[in-house]
Amino acid sequence: MMEASAGNGLVVEGISLGFGGLQVLSDVSMSLRPGVITGLIGPNGAGKTSLFNCLTGLYHGQRGRSSFAGTALNGLGPAQRAACGITRSFQNLAMCPDLSLLENVLVGLTLKRRSGWFSAFVPTPAQRVEQQEAERRAIAALNELGIGAFAHDKPSDLPPGTLRLAEIARAIACDPRAILLDEPAAGLNAVETRDLMRALRRLMRPDLVLLVVEHDMDLIMELCEQIYVLNFGKMIASGTPAEIRAQPDVIRVYLGDDADD
Ligand SMILES: Nc1ncnc2c1ncn2[C@@H]1O[C@H](COP(=O)(O)OP(=O)(O)OP(=O)(O)O)[C@@H](O)[C@H]1O
Ligand SMILES: [Mg+2]
Repeated sequence: MMEASAGNGLVVEGISLGFGGLQVLSDVSMSLRPGVITGLIGPNGAGKTSLFNCLTGLYHGQRGRSSFAGTALNGLGPAQRAACGITRSFQNLAMCPDLSLLENVLVGLTLKRRSGWFSAFVPTPAQRVEQQEAERRAIAALNELGIGAFAHDKPSDLPPGTLRLAEIARAIACDPRAILLDEPAAGLNAVETRDLMRALRRLMRPDLVLLVVEHDMDLIMELCEQIYVLNFGKMIASGTPAEIRAQPDVIRVYLGDDADD
């Protein structure tokens, strides 16, 4: 299981994280390879979001190391990791309700723009070109996710499946090298979940790291080539879907936990 030495992916080695007396992650290692959709599963409270937050720099383990494409990430916060090309979605939808989908995607892009917010009021010609380029990229991202037709709609008028795709559009508009998704299928119906899976497969590229965190085992089995299983803060298994399916520890955890999935 401890193969976290791949140089070109997103790698964590020996991460331990505790809050007060509560040990949330214990000596966890994981290696996310480019070009592969990696899944992280585990029952509620297993530590999936905590590990996710360690990858994005929101949490910092008391022990362990992380790196991306060979560059050490230790001590880097979310903004610095985003600058390295690591982008994320939130377990709960995080869209500005008063902005259109297009504007929501542009907010993500504006954070990366060279000119400051002041130029929004007094744009120079160069800044206008930059704004047009940002809009072009935002529209291309919405189209890539198949939701370009809703670009000018407000989040409150759209179903959860479309909003989830819009969140991913916001992530890809920034041209990331790694996309980390925490429970992207939460709150989606079966049709929306299918659309989401199709969209994720479509945006996969050989140089992209893609992590999907879920507690829906079936979804992860169908979508991912590489799967990690977390339980009570410990990585209990990793491998291909077939390998994971055959692991007695995984069967034990999921037989006891299937009821709420
Ligand atoms: N900031 C924090 N302070 C204290 N405890 C925390 C914090 N973040 C997470 N925890 C605890 O860590 C444990 C793991 O939580 P985490 O949210 O990582 O689980 P999860 O696998 O994502 O669960 P779910 O499937 O419900 O999303 C829980 O006991 C949780 O209460
Ligand atoms: Mg979680």
